[in-house]
Amino acid sequence: MAEHLLLHGKTTSVLIAHGEGAPSVLYWGAKIPDADAEAVAAALDRPLAHASIDIEAPVALVSELGSGFFGSPGIKGSRPGGGAWAPRFQASAPPEVGDDHVTLRCADEIAGLAYTIELWLESTRDVLAFRVTLANTGDTDYSLGRLALSLPLPTRANEILDFTGRWCDEFHPRRTPWEAGAIINENRRGRSSHDHVAVLFAGTEGFDENHGEVWGFHLGWSGNSRLVAERLSDGRRYLQAGEYLFPGEVELAPGEEITSPWLYGAHSVRGLGEVSRSFHSYLRDRASHPSPDTPRKVLLNTWEAVYFKHDVPTLKRLADVAAEVGAERFVLDDGWFPNRNDDTGGLGDWWVDPAKYPNGLDELVDHVTGLGLEFGLWFEPEMVNPDSELYRAHPEWVLQDPDYPEILGRNQLVLNLANDDAYAYVLEHLDRMLTDHAIGYVKWDMNRDHVQPVHAGRAGTRAQTLALYRLLDELNGRHPDVEFESCSSGGGRADFEILRYTKRIWTSDCNDALERQRIQRGFSMLFPPELMGAHVGPHQSHTTRRTHGLGFRGAIAFMGHLGIEWNLLDATEAERKQVAELVALHKQFRPLLHSGDLVRLDSLDDATLTQGVVSEDKGEALFVYARINTARSSIPDPVQFAHLDPDARYQARILGLPGPGGEFGRTKPEWMREPKGVELSGRTLMRAGLQPPVLDPESALLFHLTRVD
Ligand code: GLA
Repeated sequence: MAEHLLLHGKTTSVLIAHGEGAPSVLYWGAKIPDADAEAVAAALDRPLAHASIDIEAPVALVSELGSGFFGSPGIKGSRPGGGAWAPRFQASAPPEVGDDHVTLRCADEIAGLAYTIELWLESTRDVLAFRVTLANTGDTDYSLGRLALSLPLPTRANEILDFTGRWCDEFHPRRTPWEAGAIINENRRGRSSHDHVAVLFAGTEGFDENHGEVWGFHLGWSGNSRLVAERLSDGRRYLQAGEYLFPGEVELAPGEEITSPWLYGAHSVRGLGEVSRSFHSYLRDRASHPSPDTPRKVLLNTWEAVYFKHDVPTLKRLADVAAEVGAERFVLDDGWFPNRNDDTGGLGDWWVDPAKYPNGLDELVDHVTGLGLEFGLWFEPEMVNPDSELYRAHPEWVLQDPDYPEILGRNQLVLNLANDDAYAYVLEHLDRMLTDHAIGYVKWDMNRDHVQPVHAGRAGTRAQTLALYRLLDELNGRHPDVEFESCSSGGGRADFEILRYTKRIWTSDCNDALERQRIQRGFSMLFPPELMGAHVGPHQSHTTRRTHGLGFRGAIAFMGHLGIEWNLLDATEAERKQVAELVALHKQFRPLLHSGDLVRLDSLDDATLTQGVVSEDKGEALFVYARINTARSSIPDPVQFAHLDPDARYQARILGLPGPGGEFGRTKPEWMREPKGVELSGRTLMRAGLQPPVLDPESALLFHLTRVD
């Protein structure tokens, strides 16, 4: 007889069947009472279909081909000679049940395999976190091609939102009906990637930010991944995710085990926004999350300011201006190490270029810290250029099949961190830089995909990913005051696991404020604003050549972890003053922006995008309303806010953004003619809304709402 275990979150429940065959989740959705656990299982029991086999194999957490489940198997592997390829598991111990977690143990004596599943759903939140550890209990090697976990979804979840993308266009949403058949998202790039991000939302037809039942799913892993959403011919739907393994990549010796990445699921009956907020609050409560007591430092990054052209007097002057406008951190990007005048050489030689820094790096570090700013430094530790001292000394350290010619990407190769000597080299050099200089911040970059990654004769992306975590962990341990940022040609490495070691993600190399509106909206599906690197670039975007006023550039960068990536030495006095105003405004609202609930609004046309942050007690809110193109109608729709306290009264006003704009003339609605705005209840703001003025395309304004008691 199966035992039924019910775990409860704040608003969700998960019902698990254990003890009869492989354990499975029978229900994942809105909260149900404990007293129903057995009856729900019986109530959901499915009859047999005509012309089917005589049992219906469940969507087991580790789904089983061996039991007659014809969807994607959770384990794919075999022993030498072909055995144990379709295992069938039984409970091997009673479940261990805690207040907010369950541990399930199963074994297949015939196949010589055993697994343990850990499931967590804390009563104060709605994120289900689970993973599996598979052990080879047999006496031959077990070659493993897949270890993945599955959850069933009800039939009414018939629409999918997932994300594609590319460099400078991260988190591009894709909305599709979930028909019969499978959507398979496989990422083989060696990083979480721009185009096959392991995140997916499924929901009831037409689900939007504040309506519909939605289930979110994310694999916390920075290497390769495989995500499946399938509707079977018997009507059932399930989601499955796990690491994507190359042939031969994992060979479990007798007694050896492997643990899957953590998988995260969140559910809400109140739309996509609530699912995102669940993910955000889950991240916010992890020990690795930036502490709310330490404000996220506004930074100036030198990349689009000077690129590889490092000249100490210029950099010092740039730091002076950074300090003037209120920046708190100065990040020296690529170009500070020898032979790095472009992207063709130098990676791997992690010491200071004596030509560019004749008096050493400390001349600049001291200047920056003397101004009261923290000093940050760029590294790309997983890489090596063939034109480097390192490669000349150790060409054998690359993560590459030695039998084939190397394939370059951005003139560079991947360094095999699973090679102990290469690992020790990188650790030693980074450690030395962090020890020898007053560095408070590291921008950790990774700019190319893995191609034929080979470590110790077999596919090596998994080994590399684990070595990367080890290295970051070691450096975090040795330098607990240094903050690390995850960058990968922009947002190519953005996942919950890298965030155990890093405190910021560089969202995109695209600083074009128009593109950023959408990129950041996609990013916010999983990550809260304080983790989102967002920079004000120059008037003309370096990646698109579009030009935007400072108000529009500032409005979107303002909503994340603010930075400036612009040669302010080229800016006019007036522009610098405006940047200073923007930084001051950001600092004023930073506590709200970096702790409140993120709220994305739906709009009826594609002319506007609105998102904001509402404080936890709902006493204050700030929304950025952006006109992204010209609209069909000459007057925009009222903005219908969300997530406010319906019974509270709010003072609503427009917050001026620095730079030209803000004069709306006759298009200004009456409530805006009063500087103090208008007082309305939360209910009215959410139902009737607030009329904005007519905005030019590619401009934005800020709505500030404060509760009046
Ligand atoms: C990548 C990053 C950029 C910058 C450059 C430096 O493209 O995403 O922000 O650091 O590398 O080479």
